[in-house]
Amino acid sequence: MKNIAVIGAGTMGNGIAHTFAQSGFNVNLIDISEAFLKKGLATIAKNLDRMVAKETITESKKEETLQNISTFTSIIEGVKHVDLVVEAATENVDLKLNIFKQLDEACAKETILATNTSSISITQIAAATSRPKQVIGMHFMNPVPIMLLVEIIRGYSTSDAVTKTIMHLSEALGKTPVEVNDYPGFVANRILMPMINESIETLYNGVAGVQEIDTVMKLGMAHPMGPLQLADFIGLDVCLSILNVMYDGFKNPKYAPCPLLVNMVRAGKLGVKSGEGFYDYSESRKAEHVSSQFLK
Ligand SMILES: NC(=O)c1ccc[n+]([C@@H]2O[C@H](COP(=O)([O-])OP(=O)(O)OC[C@H]3O[C@@H](n4cnc5c(N)ncnc54)[C@H](O)[C@@H]3O)[C@@H](O)[C@H]2O)c1
Repeated sequence: MKNIAVIGAGTMGNGIAHTFAQSGFNVNLIDISEAFLKKGLATIAKNLDRMVAKETITESKKEETLQNISTFTSIIEGVKHVDLVVEAATENVDLKLNIFKQLDEACAKETILATNTSSISITQIAAATSRPKQVIGMHFMNPVPIMLLVEIIRGYSTSDAVTKTIMHLSEALGKTPVEVNDYPGFVANRILMPMINESIETLYNGVAGVQEIDTVMKLGMAHPMGPLQLADFIGLDVCLSILNVMYDGFKNPKYAPCPLLVNMVRAGKLGVKSGEGFYDYSESRKAEHVSSQFLK
């Protein structure tokens, strides 16, 4: 495998393109507009500069990595002659089904189609194509160039040969792949999201405050960041949507999102990206905890 297309130049797409390009693959980075591609490339260049400054890579490695990336605004043009497509577009089921239909028509019949979805069924995405054996989940973690795990999700029909190829490919990127089956939340979010939800429930029940809950988990469990702060970084809307996927998928009340999480999302308090979640990220009150006001 040498030629890879990455769909979406956002947070995950630019990290995935960076990682493949740095490992010597030719990458076609595809997004809907030149502006998104320019922004994605600027992020890759900034992250490479940081690696040069830390002496993790040389200046010439940085140049070589950037030269390995070409950009496209057309899926049809961008996926010609590629061995693998990694889709990292916006998390929306209709959008992804539509992209996979286009990919199935535009790609060579041997091309493997992977998705970086956090919560959508791989089996459902695969069913939108005529090649479900060659559709697989490649769930990278954020920030992609740094995080070592790739959760490899086998859809109901994914073949052994395709799974093996993608496991080896992930190793060639310097990552550790872990093979899992396609059930709601896969493994990472199935375990992480109930922990985050329970920490919100603990706050909602008045057992302890934001900082107290995060401190217990940081110092008591050696987590690098407390669960409430982690939820702010992931985005409270994203946490709610993944919990809803698990609640709907398993029909089990243990995955029901905490009413406080639902209220905060309704109020537009989405965490870091909206400037406020369990903590305040505005310049004046940087990372001060604020969510107790939502309990009133
Ligand atoms: N952000 C995370 O921490 C994280 C972690 C793991 C997995 N994911 C998953 O990765 C995927 C991307 O998430 P993100 O956080 O990078 O989103 P993002 O919003 O940062 O980027 C999505 C990009 O997709 C582009 N896009 C939308 N429709 C497109 C189309 N038809 N063709 C080409 N490009 C299109 C958008 O213009 C945007 O640039 C989602 O499936 C998400 O669930 C995200």
